[in-house]
Amino acid sequence: MCGITGYIGTRKAYPIVINGLRRLEYRGYDSAGVMVFDGSKMNLIKTKGKVSDLELIANKDPQKKEGNIAIGHTRWATHGVPNDVNSHPHFSQSGDLVIVHNGIIENYDTIKKELVSRGYKFHSDTDTEVLVNLIEEVKKQNNCKLGKAVQLALNQVTGAYAIAVFDRTKPNEIIVARLGSPIAIGVGKNNEEFFIASDASPFIEFTKDAIYLEDEEMAIIKLGRDIRVRKIHDDTIVNASTQELQLSLEQIEKGGYDHFMIKEIHEQPKAITDTYRGRMLADQGIIRMAGVDDNIEKFLNAERIIIVACGTSWHAGLVGEYLLEDMARIPVEVEYASEFRYRNPIITPKDIVIAISQSGETADTLAAIKLAKSKGAFVFGICNVVGSSIARETMAGAYTHAGPEIGVASTKAFTTQITVLTLISLKLAKAKGTLSNSAFHMYLQKMQLIPAKVKKLLQIDEKVKEIAKVYKDAKNCLYLGRGFNFPVALEGALKLKEISYIHAEGYPAAEMKHGPIALIDENMPIFVIATNKGHYEKVVSNIQEIKSRSGKIIAIVTEGDVTVKEIADHVIEIPETEEALTPLLTTIPFQLLSYHIAVMLGKNVDQPRNLAKSVTVE
Ligand code: G6P
Repeated sequence: MCGITGYIGTRKAYPIVINGLRRLEYRGYDSAGVMVFDGSKMNLIKTKGKVSDLELIANKDPQKKEGNIAIGHTRWATHGVPNDVNSHPHFSQSGDLVIVHNGIIENYDTIKKELVSRGYKFHSDTDTEVLVNLIEEVKKQNNCKLGKAVQLALNQVTGAYAIAVFDRTKPNEIIVARLGSPIAIGVGKNNEEFFIASDASPFIEFTKDAIYLEDEEMAIIKLGRDIRVRKIHDDTIVNASTQELQLSLEQIEKGGYDHFMIKEIHEQPKAITDTYRGRMLADQGIIRMAGVDDNIEKFLNAERIIIVACGTSWHAGLVGEYLLEDMARIPVEVEYASEFRYRNPIITPKDIVIAISQSGETADTLAAIKLAKSKGAFVFGICNVVGSSIARETMAGAYTHAGPEIGVASTKAFTTQITVLTLISLKLAKAKGTLSNSAFHMYLQKMQLIPAKVKKLLQIDEKVKEIAKVYKDAKNCLYLGRGFNFPVALEGALKLKEISYIHAEGYPAAEMKHGPIALIDENMPIFVIATNKGHYEKVVSNIQEIKSRSGKIIAIVTEGDVTVKEIADHVIEIPETEEALTPLLTTIPFQLLSYHIAVMLGKNVDQPRNLAKSVTVE
């Protein structure tokens, strides 16, 4: 979490860095800060609050914004509450060094005590201030250059970091390093300027050439010179290659929508199409997916698939379990990456681990992958962000091609992850012969119709708004679904919790009787998925049970439904499709509903409190 950005070159640095911070706010937004070097002085502006709050303060003192070098930070607090003092950047004791940091220094307390005994004084509660002073102390002790000091200091710390460090006495370079948290360097023409950021979005309008540091690498960025990358731990020189960025400015702007979340909800027909484009050739009855094709024997011989993920991606993994077991008849387990990595799981070389992650940076998922690899499992990744840590750490994989997802509440990532999982399930089912040829072809045809159906479904926006108006003041909500739609119930509840702060629980519809039913009264809205092919009669009985306890029922049904319409307080119809494909549709009304409720309640939809889009700490 936390976003860092920086600039060194000939342009005015402040606007570049502040604009970059705005684009990185998805990574954390409880405080923000910037240091601008004006040629002699390092001017520091920082505050609790969002980047917009920082700008208001900076605008009062325009002189502080002048200069061609700057580093900035948008924070998601780990050590120390969000306040002005704990905000980054942090200076060293002498005032010569300045740092921004994304990550956690786990042994900061021991180092701090040592530094205090040497006379260092600390102003903040952060681990970051400890790190910058450690670098200063190492530099002094070894009488070495900044790059060397950073390297030696990092060899003393445990934890995770992406850092940028600047020394005002050597104002033509910035040192960056990474372990566990991402960092990208944008390279300007003739090395006359460089950009630094947690992802490439802050600099796409300036350069398409980027270098992504790998874990345990650091770079010395010096004006007029090629970037030098080396390993932090053993000093090996790394031949870092420049990649051409595919990202466009348009993709990361709101494009006329009020929020990224609603833009991304509406992008789903295209995102799903982009996910299967070139992979699913429905008319020829073929699914091509290089990551699976190249390892088909491993998939066919797998005794078990273990899916690891967090948050919404974990919910997509659950849908994957239903799909893979139903279609390809491979036993599947779905694990929270954070639990899996610490519970000494049984993993064998006959297991395939599928890691799902939108950002490709989630620390727990990354650690789960490393554990699985160490036990000999084949690890396959499903990621959205191209070139992300998880995409690089996995042995093969498939990108979702959803385009940048910026709203903290995940939407198009979920449906595109399910799309990839559906393609994999169908592909394996065909290869294993667990699905008849006719069923396989039927699925491909129906899959091809999904984007148009999502598009049609998105037209219910006004109706969902009306429902949102009725239930926006609810204190608690239940979401129920069965089979393929049980994970959608979990995801629906998560969406509501995340952005409207209304307490919501997802449950398998039948399990309601074992507890949640006690919560039902006339104030409790219950969202039920009752599609026509999904244990319909059973769900109807569950709805009756709710009705007889005066609960309010909002049902998602298939077009043309009659029975549920008579019982429910509200119904939302989804277009007809196969039950296995319904999660791609049933999830849409829940996304819209959470969005409208949050807007009506005046919540910050794209930046909900306490959350961050990319969780790079465990
Ligand atoms: C955070 C985000 C969620 C996301 C989860 C997993 O909690 O707020 O939206 O589902 O991380 O992220 P990943 O990038 O691994 O899918």
